Amino acid sequence: MVKRNWPPDEGFSGYFHTDRPAEDAELTHVDPGTPGGEYLRRFWQPVAMAREVDDMPLRLRLLGEDLVLFRDGGGRWGLVHRNCVHRRAPLEYARPEARGLRRCYHGGLFDVDGTLIEAPLEPADSKLPGSLCQPAYPVQEHRGLIFAYLGPPADRPPFPIFDTYEIPGGEMVPFAIDIECNWLQITENSIDPSHTVYLHTRSYGTQFFDTWGEAPLLEFHERNHGFMFTSTRRVGDHVWIRSQDLLLPNMTQGGTVSTGDGKTPSAPLPAAAIRAGRCRWTRPIRGSWVGAISTTFPIPSRKAWTIPP
Ligand code: FES
Ligand SMILES: [Fe+2]
Repeated sequence: MVKRNWPPDEGFSGYFHTDRPAEDAELTHVDPGTPGGEYLRRFWQPVAMAREVDDMPLRLRLLGEDLVLFRDGGGRWGLVHRNCVHRRAPLEYARPEARGLRRCYHGGLFDVDGTLIEAPLEPADSKLPGSLCQPAYPVQEHRGLIFAYLGPPADRPPFPIFDTYEIPGGEMVPFAIDIECNWLQITENSIDPSHTVYLHTRSYGTQFFDTWGEAPLLEFHERNHGFMFTSTRRVGDHVWIRSQDLLLPNMTQGGTVSTGDGKTPSAPLPAAAIRAGRCRWTRPIRGSWVGAISTTFPIPSRKAWTIPP
């Protein structure tokens, strides 16, 4: 029998290259108890955009867990396990009230931290309220995005606010995209400055800026938060330097690399777009091969983008 995978490098050697590498699950699987899942659970993670939630809870999956996100009548956010702790009724059918979430099946009212406040079908002297809890996670809203901490309560870090959110002239515009791959692949895409040359410019025409079609000189610098890197391009008489950050484990910030109109070397670009034209978090949904991203652009307002004649 012909031995496959040999020789490894030769013209017309397709027959020999049929093995598929085994999945590397150590970091890409994110379910509870997996190494990757436990790592990501030590950081605030993006959950959804605030505008995705109306007067009913939003069913979602994050880090391999089935959850529902809701906002009660007091404007407080809650993120709880999807199935009711009582008889497992799905909570996307529960109703937010002035305080907390009213379960659709037996009417239990739970606060945003999961505490049972009312059990209307129980005897008046029931000990259930105050002793029963729906598994819940702390939630933070920032600039139209909802974040949650799914890790051990004792290890919860402060919610990070970066200076790039506050650049004068910037306007955070949230959006989210689901992509079928794992969280590490999208994070890796965000720190690959080379692909802009072909994928975003030469292969199919300019998608962002003509200047991205120039092959950049890349420099990487290790930092406490991860690393930052620069892509330097010479365009005519100008040298353009794009800086990008990786903030471990799954946030990236990318400055832009051009001028205000993307073509004219002298067209001005607002400071917000130079420093961080995009802040992107990879949203780890579940284990292998399905991931998503949640992204914001702190882009200048439409007015600021207007190029003077
Ligand atoms: S199943 Fe939720 S209150 Fe009974
Ligand atoms: Fe890209």
